[in-house]
Amino acid sequence: MLLAHATHRRREYFFAHPEQQLTDIEWLHYGRYLHQRLQGRPTQYITGRQEFYGREFKVDARALIPRPETEHLIEAVLPRAAGAPLIVDVGCGSGAIAVTLALELPQARVIASDISWAALQLARENAAALGANAAFVAGDLLAAVKAVSVDIVVSNPPYVAAESRAELATEVRDWEPSLALFGGADGFEITARLLPDAARVLRPGGLLVMEMGAGQWAAHEQKAAAYFTDIEPLFDLAGIHRALMARRKS
Ligand SMILES: C[S@@+](CC[C@H](N)C(=O)[O-])C[C@H]1O[C@@H](n2cnc3c(N)ncnc32)[C@H](O)[C@@H]1O
Repeated sequence: MLLAHATHRRREYFFAHPEQQLTDIEWLHYGRYLHQRLQGRPTQYITGRQEFYGREFKVDARALIPRPETEHLIEAVLPRAAGAPLIVDVGCGSGAIAVTLALELPQARVIASDISWAALQLARENAAALGANAAFVAGDLLAAVKAVSVDIVVSNPPYVAAESRAELATEVRDWEPSLALFGGADGFEITARLLPDAARVLRPGGLLVMEMGAGQWAAHEQKAAAYFTDIEPLFDLAGIHRALMARRKS
């Protein structure tokens, strides 16, 4: 991937042209990228790109690199988004979720929020580059959303326990924004506030789809029961409880 990036070619090209010699300038770029990678910088921050739900998103240190597991949230929302739903993506980061939903659901009105101005700027750039129509607002969780008739709240919030920081891969811990990763000491600080905040803005019967970390299902299911009904897990390809789906109580 780094070689392809350094030479502005697709990866397949190198299988078809193994005899290809690099120019001096290509060697320079390739060497620089390898050096950055050896220092731990994630490949996506070097190439500046990550695919999400079949589209290429610009990524850099302003936001988390979108993960394939998060595509399950899109798969959960799409069949449940009839008509012209009002959708809010909380903690939009690069805009992967909000931009994808805006493009997949042209009738929907999509609002994306984040507490990070830098992340919001990146999300706006991705929306513009991909031609998505979404509104971006800065604020703590849903503070900037005054509507109380939201149809769908979707979120991949920070949920890693700061206590387990040392267990994270260094390329995550040392390179991705801490604000995007950590949900307080135990990992539940943001989601414990997000559940009532989502309940505040959702219409009765409105849908919450919230990603979570491995091992967090039982606690989230219990906390969500105060505001939500029809609480169901979404499993990722490894069979891990990856997200919670629930309906706002009437
Ligand atoms: C795990 S990242 C998810 C980014 C993106 N949605 C994705 O799935 O790739 C969490 C995001 O939540 C934002 N965030 C953290 N605390 C927040 C808060 N209190 N209110 C709103 N957003 C917050 C971070 O800045 C970060 O962009």
